[in-house]
Amino acid sequence: MSSLTELYEKIAKCEACRLCKQRKRAVPGEGREDAEIMFIGEAPGWHEDQQGRPFVGPAGQFLDELLQSISLKRSEVYIANVVKCRPPGNRDPLPDEIGACRNWLDRQIELIKPKMIVTLGRYSMARFFPGGVISKVHGTARKSEGVTYFAMYHPAAALHQGSLRKVIMEDMLKIPSFLTQAEAASEEPSPQKAKKAEKVEKVEKVEKVEQAEPKQLSMF
Ligand code: URA
Repeated sequence: MSSLTELYEKIAKCEACRLCKQRKRAVPGEGREDAEIMFIGEAPGWHEDQQGRPFVGPAGQFLDELLQSISLKRSEVYIANVVKCRPPGNRDPLPDEIGACRNWLDRQIELIKPKMIVTLGRYSMARFFPGGVISKVHGTARKSEGVTYFAMYHPAAALHQGSLRKVIMEDMLKIPSFLTQAEAASEEPSPQKAKKAEKVEKVEKVEKVEQAEPKQLSMF
């Protein structure tokens, strides 16, 4: 069993906050275990609670469309939420509920090691863009310890406020170039590795020259 599957089993039994009492199913997250990009939403809604899967309701349909717009499939990415159980009546998650779930998300990130994390909505943004305001931060990226963080409005925002649909679609189109940059940066060798490679290259060059011009053996 993979470490991620083991984690899902623990999340399914979690009773760290009041949300466990009314859930039908916990919604740990799903997707590629080695995904380069991870999308993090807020909390499961009714549909997600029924199925135990993230973003399978109307907001999820829009997320699927957004992924398609940049030629990505759900199976190629990882999708999770800040909070793993549905808050009753789809209310906003409370600070202690977010706190109780924090370690689960941390562990998921540790296991998946994404190069890019896309935050969907205010609660996810608050975690990775501390002090940020969604109306200013959306569509922008920051980099920290080798991971690129990119903030977006929550897909459900477009369902409540039609004018945000275009903004969300435009922000999504910025992802491929940030992802390419993040991938390229992770392939750059560290300064120590670069030095080591330089030394090996020098030794190889000397050996090649010596092979090409064998030393004349003295007859005397
Ligand atoms: N909204 C979220 O933030 N997450 C889901 O999984 C579904 C709707």
